[in-house]
Amino acid sequence: MNSVILEQSTNTLIFRPTDYKTIYEELHALHDLYASHSGVSASSVIDQDMWLPSGNAVSPVKAAHCLLEIQRTAVFIRGINKAILSLQASFPGQRIHILYAGCGPYATLLTPFTSRFTKDQLTFHLLDVNEHSLNAAKKLYKGLEIEEYVAEWICGDATTYRLPDDVTIHLAISETMLNALRKEPQVEIMLNLVPQLDKKALFIPSDITVTAELLDSYKETYRYLEPEKTPDRLNLGTLYSIGREQCEPHSQVTIEIPQQIENFKQLNLLTTITTFADEQLQTYECSLNMPVRIADVTGYEGRKITFDYERGAKPGFKYEWI
Ligand SMILES: C[S@@+](CC[C@H](N)C(=O)[O-])C[C@H]1O[C@@H](n2cnc3c(N)ncnc32)[C@H](O)[C@@H]1O
Repeated sequence: MNSVILEQSTNTLIFRPTDYKTIYEELHALHDLYASHSGVSASSVIDQDMWLPSGNAVSPVKAAHCLLEIQRTAVFIRGINKAILSLQASFPGQRIHILYAGCGPYATLLTPFTSRFTKDQLTFHLLDVNEHSLNAAKKLYKGLEIEEYVAEWICGDATTYRLPDDVTIHLAISETMLNALRKEPQVEIMLNLVPQLDKKALFIPSDITVTAELLDSYKETYRYLEPEKTPDRLNLGTLYSIGREQCEPHSQVTIEIPQQIENFKQLNLLTTITTFADEQLQTYECSLNMPVRIADVTGYEGRKITFDYERGAKPGFKYEWI
């Protein structure tokens, strides 16, 4: 029964991308299955975040809740599926080693693949800084009888973790972010892990880009009247792109507010996440893509503003008018 739910929901996520109703129902079925084995449910309330020097590591319950962010989970799963297929082509006959940095209590973004690939095709290195999350994931894997997929359980901080010397990690995954890369340690984790990867190894998400854009609040509010159309916006430039190809600390960016802004008065940061290949999460598609409002720029036409991405315990963009 367990394996039927897992296989069915995985197939729906991968092969029926626009069947939102079925995806919704099956992710809830998956949540119930995971919760019953791991002892952690998205509706529990008593647990704690961890405040790390690199940002906030969300609690087991909040991490569990990520599963139910429908579009986030679906687009990550589809990207990971494509990445695994691509790695199987690059490394024919080899077992693919996957490091999951911040696996949470369900290892949400990898567990579904135990229904599509054998343990001789895939093996997981599951890492989380929160021992309660890691212990819950261990219970889940035991309950589902899929422990043999796990090469190692690692309780550690992904911002300082060194990849093992004795095996090649082919794919590293981390979803430890909020919109506009606020609060959580995604950037720090990528800056640590990506440079350690072998040349042909992949990282997911393969790119995260934050842009500064002027929005017309009327057009944004009524965008649902024409859901197939992106509302007009004034893109003032990219503040930061970080990913597999380009993984450097941020450098200061200055943008200029145009002289003519018409009704595009709201300066916002927009986040686009490419999980892999053409699998992308765009504005409003999930909590990681909600616009972050900076300012109403009426009266600031022609002025410049600088952005710096501040690292440390409260990561995020800081800005200053000049
Ligand atoms: C947003 S949750 C995501 C959970 C799950 N990966 C998913 O996508 O549904 C982030 C997870 O990353 C873990 N985490 C955050 N910072 C970490 C760090 N520096 N090292 C290792 N794990 C971390 C948290 O404990 C939490 O379990």
